[in-house]
Amino acid sequence: MEMVSKQQKQVVLKDYVRGYPKESDFELRSSDTICGLSNGSRAVLLKNLCLACDPYMRHRMSDQVSHPGTIIKSYSPGSVLVGYGVCKVIQSTHPGFQEGDFVWGLTGWEEYSVIPNPERLNKISHTGVPLSYYTGILGSYQIKATTLLHGQLHDKLEYRYDIDQGMARVSNNLDMLELMDWCYFLINVYYELEPFLDRIHRTWTPPSLPTFILMGIVEWHRTGGIAAYVGFYILCSPKAGDTVYVSSACGGVGQLVGQFAKMMGCYVVGSASTEEKVNLSKTKFGFDDAFNYKEHDLAAALKRYFPGGIDIYFDNVGGKMLDEVIMHMKPHGRIAACGMISQYNLEEPEGIHNMFNVVVKSLEIKGFVETDFKHIYPEYLEFAIRHLQEGKLVCVEDISEGLENASSALIGVFHGRNVGKKVVRVASG
Ligand SMILES: NC(=O)c1ccc[n+]([C@@H]2O[C@H](COP(=O)([O-])OP(=O)(O)OC[C@H]3O[C@@H](n4cnc5c(N)ncnc54)[C@H](OP(=O)(O)O)[C@@H]3O)[C@@H](O)[C@H]2O)c1
Repeated sequence: MEMVSKQQKQVVLKDYVRGYPKESDFELRSSDTICGLSNGSRAVLLKNLCLACDPYMRHRMSDQVSHPGTIIKSYSPGSVLVGYGVCKVIQSTHPGFQEGDFVWGLTGWEEYSVIPNPERLNKISHTGVPLSYYTGILGSYQIKATTLLHGQLHDKLEYRYDIDQGMARVSNNLDMLELMDWCYFLINVYYELEPFLDRIHRTWTPPSLPTFILMGIVEWHRTGGIAAYVGFYILCSPKAGDTVYVSSACGGVGQLVGQFAKMMGCYVVGSASTEEKVNLSKTKFGFDDAFNYKEHDLAAALKRYFPGGIDIYFDNVGGKMLDEVIMHMKPHGRIAACGMISQYNLEEPEGIHNMFNVVVKSLEIKGFVETDFKHIYPEYLEFAIRHLQEGKLVCVEDISEGLENASSALIGVFHGRNVGKKVVRVASG
């Protein structure tokens, strides 16, 4: 296949970020990039269409020591940002992908990306919704068994799987639960192998590693939609009549939680930082009420909207907000700790002072990462698509045009400038 060299724009992280990210932390680079695929590779060349501006990306802008014991991996200074995106395959030397396929998954913040291990990408089959939805509401887990089983590891597994046969072959042979068990096993292997992963991805079958280590790589992907679903329905056990409070009510996650709460017959109030978002929460997402947390005394507002207390708090922001909400929870209230965006840019996280309320009110606070709930994906996808198609669920996106505006779009999320899920449109399909 012909190699094509093309100038393209890329968004580069210049150095690790301290405090709030700012324009000077990023560079829009024009780079001479090889955009063609060589014969013999098993790669895809993607045209990037939409990129998600996800708050978790801020963690990846810090050095590794900032998040010990988590699965978060830092970006390397000087490298192109990586995040979730929707893309079109424009060349493929991988049998699983064809020119013209639409996919979503991790990609570069650049016009074109060569993905040497495209097994990690997800093909988009439901195209009856805006493709950008796959950066948020619909981009969820897909288990990808991109693995070769060798040596002793193979002996431990009941199932043999050849990467060339792809996911469909596995699904034919195994039922979902068996596949999950198998994948959990491989996930453990994955973590043990993490220090070697770059090597594994590059060489695929590194001869220098003992064969028994070889090789399970299981990929699963994240998004906001399933976080809303899992955090609300599973962790908070809602029932009709519950009183629900949602912070960052107009964001990618918050807007869905508000709608789920209404579907459940709950009373739901949200907060956001502008009147526009407050109005949208009520008129578009169906919140019973909403308020601007920057303009109201929080304690007084919570008292006013929840005179009898809060059953469920869906926490997207943490910090002082969480501290105050704990005081307004009803006994046996549930708090889903989904995110703590108010803390992501602080050198010193704020403390929570009202924790004794957790004891005396028997509160449940449950943190979660959506990657722990991949088994919910089929159920969630069916639910989300059906409700979107029936017009019972809406998704508001805030789209910035072009890579020129990508860094400011991402920065804006940490200042509340986005109204809905923040997306950068790089190109049209
Ligand atoms: N647990 C998981 O698996 C998981 C998955 C996805 C996302 N998350 C988390 O869920 C939260 C929402 O994510 P999202 O993608 O839906 O983002 P988002 O809500 O679309 O965007 C972020 C919003 O957070 C609010 N915000 C920013 N800085 C703030 C601060 N200092 N104090 C209070 N509010 C602030 C702003 O809205 P306002 O107008 O309300 O200030 C901003 O628009 C984030 O914390 C994210 O990390 C968790």
